[in-house]
Order: sequence, then structure tokens, then C-alpha cells
Amino acid sequence: MINRNPQLDKNRVLQHLLTMEGLPAAILLQILDTAESFVGVTERDVKIVPLLRGKSIFNLFFEPSTRTRTTFEIAAKRLSADVFNLNIAVSAQSKGETLLDTVDNLSAMNADMLIVRHAQSGAAHLIAKHVRPGIHVINAGDGRHAHPTQALLDMFTIRRYKQQFHNLRVAIIGDIMHSRVARSQIHALTTLGVPEVRVIAPKTLLPSKVERLGVHVFHDMNEGLKDVDVLVMLRLQKERMQGAHLPSSEEYFKYYGLTPEKLLLARPDAIVMHPGPMNRGVEIDSSVADGHQSVILPQVTFGIAVRMAVMSILAGHQV
Ligand code: CP
Repeated sequence: MINRNPQLDKNRVLQHLLTMEGLPAAILLQILDTAESFVGVTERDVKIVPLLRGKSIFNLFFEPSTRTRTTFEIAAKRLSADVFNLNIAVSAQSKGETLLDTVDNLSAMNADMLIVRHAQSGAAHLIAKHVRPGIHVINAGDGRHAHPTQALLDMFTIRRYKQQFHNLRVAIIGDIMHSRVARSQIHALTTLGVPEVRVIAPKTLLPSKVERLGVHVFHDMNEGLKDVDVLVMLRLQKERMQGAHLPSSEEYFKYYGLTPEKLLLARPDAIVMHPGPMNRGVEIDSSVADGHQSVILPQVTFGIAVRMAVMSILAGHQV
């Protein structure tokens, strides 16, 4: 059988984590179940396990990050790995070194894992195809394409609060067009058996033919939020927009900002999620972001256990 998924080896074992697309539910569930065991570790006084002792993990963030870079570093340290944060601003990239030359030099330093965030869609795939066998690549967000560990920590959070996937209605709201998080979430939710995934956005912030991803499209929050169990709010990704997609932030908030009144349309036990960074008063009102239905900060905490799970599985450990 030809292996068309660059993330899996010929035995269908995970070698890189690049996208949610094409990954079987069994691998997603293996990551979520492994993360459950690491939540216990992160709550102990001594939070360290020796699974990645002696391994060298490089954080290569060519775009800004608060949550992803920091939680990858915490996760790697909790697995006892040596972590190196490449400071891109003062790296030889500024002298014209290519991405793949940088990667070759880190490989020559005996890197075991490369965690890559890049503005170009496909950057992590390119690196994964280039590195020698045994070096694992994790996509920490590439352009508007994919952000697989964000989607996994979101799936972990949903399962923690809602227990199962097969009876849920999930709405993803906002700038779907420029969002790598939305794409990865849609693939993960459908793979895990969520029967109804909705996207709610103005036409200008939806990719063409988005229905082909298996989602139901709404342009009106009053219709789209009815009876949903999970709301995922997205930031307007202005850094990826070319030209005006919206009249103004104020106008956007009026129609698509999540307020306490709009949240009442969802199920009373609905949870509110956001991958961060939030823009309060643009896509979400502060009273909702900080309210009792918000699980935005638990998402961040669970991100540590989920990233520990991804790294330990890539390193070949069954926990
Ligand atoms: N969710 C997310 O990717 O946040 P950062 O950009 O802070 O990593």
C-alpha cells in the first residue's frame, strides 16, 4: 500500500505532526488519552517525568506566539528534554540563510525534534520532507493552513467538559477564512464524530466552498448559535488580510461579537472557547470571556499535557 500521509511511516506510526487532515481517529484518541495521563503529572508537586531525557528539542518560531511557544517549552521541560529557543530576530536568517539551511545546521547539532511556526503555509511540511529519518517535526502553526496541536488541545478541552463527541453541536465563529485553527478544528471534530459543525461568519470571512469540509454555514449569529454546545470564537487575523474585509471593528462586534445576550441563544450549559490571543470588544465581550461559561484559560493549561503527549508519542513512548 502506498503511504500518502507524510506524517505516518509505512507502519502508520506517527513520525511528524503537521495537520489534522488525514489522521485517523485512533491517533487523535491516542494523543488525547495520553494527555489525560499527563494532566496528573502537571498537577503534582514534582512535575517532571524522564521520558525525553537526553533529547534536544528546538523551538523555531518565525511568527509571534505567547501560548504555543511557552507551553511547548514547559511541556518539553516536564518531559526532561533539553529545549532550545532559536531567537529568529538575531539568527542568521537575517543574513540571508535559507529555512532549510537553518534546519540542516540544527540537525548537525543533533536535534531530535523541531517545533516550527511560520507565516508560510506548508513550511512545516517542507521541513518534514527535508530532515533525515529520526528527526520529528511538529507544526506549531503555518500561515492559514494548520495548527494541529491547538486543535488537539481544543478537542481535549471539549472532551473534558462534554465527555463525548457524538452528540455535540459545535459552532466556530468569526474569521474562518484566515484561520489555521478553524481548519484544524473542523478536521479534528469531523474525524472524532461530531455530527454538526457550524461556521458562523460574514461572507467576506469564509473560504469559498467551505461546505466541502462538512460544515453547516450561517451568516447570522441569531440562527447559528441556536442550541449549540460549544462556541469557538476566533480573532480577526488582520496580519493575514489583504484589503478590507469588514467596514469596521465596531460593526463586526455588533453582528458577530459574542455578548451575554447572544450567548443565551446557545444551550444553557454551552462552553465558550477561544484559541487566543483575544481581542476584547471585537469578537468577544469581556463579561463572556471572563464569565462562568468560559473555558479559555483551561484550554491553555490543557495545552501543556497535550503537547507532552504529542512529543512523547513522536519519540516512540507508549504511556
Ligand atoms: N493559540 C495560539 O496559537 O496562540 P499563540 O499565537 O500565542 O501561540
